[in-house]
Amino acid sequence: MTELTTQKDNALAAIAAASTLDALDEQRVDALGKKGWISLALKSLGQMHPDERQQAAPAIQAVRAEVADAIEAKRAALEEEALAVQLAKERLDLTLPAPDAPRGTVHPVSQVMDELAEIFADLGFAVATGPEIEDDWHNFTALNMDESHPARAMHDTFYFPESDNTQDGHRMLLRTHTSPVQIRSMKEQGAPIRIIAPGRVYRSDSDATHTPMFHQVEGLVIDRDIHLGHLKWTLETFLKAFFERDDIVLRLRPSYFPFTEPSVEVDVGYAKENGRRVVGGSGDDPGHDWMELLGSGMVNRRVIEFAGLDADQWQGFAFGVGVDRLAMLKYGMDDLRAFFDGDVRWLQHYGFSPFDQPTLSAGVGARP
Ligand code: PHE
Repeated sequence: MTELTTQKDNALAAIAAASTLDALDEQRVDALGKKGWISLALKSLGQMHPDERQQAAPAIQAVRAEVADAIEAKRAALEEEALAVQLAKERLDLTLPAPDAPRGTVHPVSQVMDELAEIFADLGFAVATGPEIEDDWHNFTALNMDESHPARAMHDTFYFPESDNTQDGHRMLLRTHTSPVQIRSMKEQGAPIRIIAPGRVYRSDSDATHTPMFHQVEGLVIDRDIHLGHLKWTLETFLKAFFERDDIVLRLRPSYFPFTEPSVEVDVGYAKENGRRVVGGSGDDPGHDWMELLGSGMVNRRVIEFAGLDADQWQGFAFGVGVDRLAMLKYGMDDLRAFFDGDVRWLQHYGFSPFDQPTLSAGVGARP
């Protein structure tokens, strides 16, 4: 019994002295663990004479309770202490100004696409989309380029392996232009139709002005008596709003696309200022020149038929323009490849604040 009292006094002293939860737990195992001295004392009851046991049992239980209580009390005290330390360490002064963390910007391509959507919404155009993984029927055949058409070879197409062909045997590819959205829109919505279709397109081509992925916006208007005049007015109105100047002069040149007839390539007048092309004025003015900007034309009646519409009732125009090029011309970048490098310094310089939402009232050309 005296031994038990000594052990208890030693244990209580050690518990009181424990300065960490780990040290305290060592004391718990030492006393109350499977092989702890209290557990052993309790086990020894079994071998005792009944009279002796009657005396010893309550004494051992009392020691057990006293030690267990001391451990619990000490644990609570240590935990409280630890919490106080943690709270002191992790205190935040919410009145301090927010840290100057790096902030993201809106990529010029996204900004220009929003500008285009805003401008064309005002002209009554909806935004349409189509898949970037296309089949060769939508990308070529329905656009009047059958298998043997030389334009197919000129498109530097990324094809998927034959094993990925669709069930009806169509070859899968990464769309080479946004024109397949013309077909999908006509098939899905019928006519009349007034849409723009911005998005990614892919061609196996790469230098300072070409990247394997770039962006186009397609325009399509189908109605009963649409003519070339509507096309010219629409492009002029769009480009004046986009470049935010009235002196935009266009030159329409006869051209060829399998999906438009007649086809028209559109040049815009520009001048060189500080080595930079600035759109505006006639290309025939002194100090000015013409630059090719986009492809367009009256939708070929074969395309209207492929899309399931009656070509005797419906006609219209289409155009396609490079979004990255528009962004470069408007905001003055000179290397297309930097658009897709993801360099934070470039993005900080050319990117836009999310607050610069293009609106017709506040202007579609907020500066970064
Ligand atoms: N799809 C053509 C291209 O990528 C552009 C275009 C679109 C031309 C619509 C005419 C009409 O070059």
